[in-house]
Amino acid sequence: MKACPLLLLAFALALPLHAAPSDEDLLKFVKERAKLERLTPQPVDMAARVALLCGEPGKRSLKEGPHEGAKFVIYSNDAAALPVFDPWGKFPEGSLLLKEKQGREDDKTKLYTGMLKREAGYFPECGDWEFFTVDAEAAKITERGKLANCATCHEEYQKGDFVTKVYAAPVQLSGGRIVLHSSKAQVQGEKLQYEEKQEKNTLGFWVNPADWASWHFQVAKPGTYTIHVWQGCGKGSGGSEVELKCAGQSAKFTVEDTGGFQNFKEREVGQVTFDTAGPQALEVHALSKPGAAVMDLRQVTLVPVK
Ligand code: HEC
Repeated sequence: MKACPLLLLAFALALPLHAAPSDEDLLKFVKERAKLERLTPQPVDMAARVALLCGEPGKRSLKEGPHEGAKFVIYSNDAAALPVFDPWGKFPEGSLLLKEKQGREDDKTKLYTGMLKREAGYFPECGDWEFFTVDAEAAKITERGKLANCATCHEEYQKGDFVTKVYAAPVQLSGGRIVLHSSKAQVQGEKLQYEEKQEKNTLGFWVNPADWASWHFQVAKPGTYTIHVWQGCGKGSGGSEVELKCAGQSAKFTVEDTGGFQNFKEREVGQVTFDTAGPQALEVHALSKPGAAVMDLRQVTLVPVK
């Protein structure tokens, strides 16, 4: 029998546009996690309560040995990497986050928990995340879906799009990018500060040009990096000279008027070379302030030159 092409077309159109990834797809991410971005260079100690509850199905009870220690490592795909470091960062569809739970003493993998951002409307109560758990061998998905037991905790992190971000710090990702968000800056001076409201979410109130900010981080991969800044500047206030100091080097740029202090524009403003691995600091200073304020600065990233 010949299938009617019109019927076939109707059938194709009725298929969901966003098919769920198969269990094999999810397991592939876990097995090949070395290809993902590692967001925590060192394993982080997990709170005992979380170690018990953010875990395997059927084994979540505070009665069972609450003293068993655990550590975790966080991985993400490319889409999910930067929003993790922004307290208000929202994750695009397809974002993937993976937490590997390890024993505190033996470093052995205990299990994996994961979150995959599905299509809008999938699970609106919890940011449209699909939750899943994977056994220690990365051989099978032990649970997946709109898991209520996961959502109960993650619902508390609505600000961060239901992602905890508790381990976010100025850091070099395994792929090489160094991420310095304004929320993690150290500020010196009178007025300059991290303004935490969602519509701000920036270093701002930079009316005293003597104020300055810095970030401290570990460089794992020596080499040359381009410096990217996300700057905003209100109408008529452009033109401040700004200097970035890092590893004994300096990069200067002139602030661009972007029509509003929270109209952020990503700009590449110079390069820095790290000769060795180890601790580093990046400082941002104003050399002049012709207008009302120097600028708003949401984020700085250092991107390895290939
Ligand atoms: C007791 C509260 C709690 C429960 C229940 C919970 N989590 Fe979490 N989850 C956390 C905390 C806190 C973190 C931050 C890392 C840490 O401290 O372990 C986290 C981190 C994560 C991360 C890394 C991304 C992020 O949000 O920072 C993933 C992925 C994750 N959990 C998945 C799950 C899955 C899947 C479940 C259900 C099986 C689950 N969680 C249940 C508290 C919980």
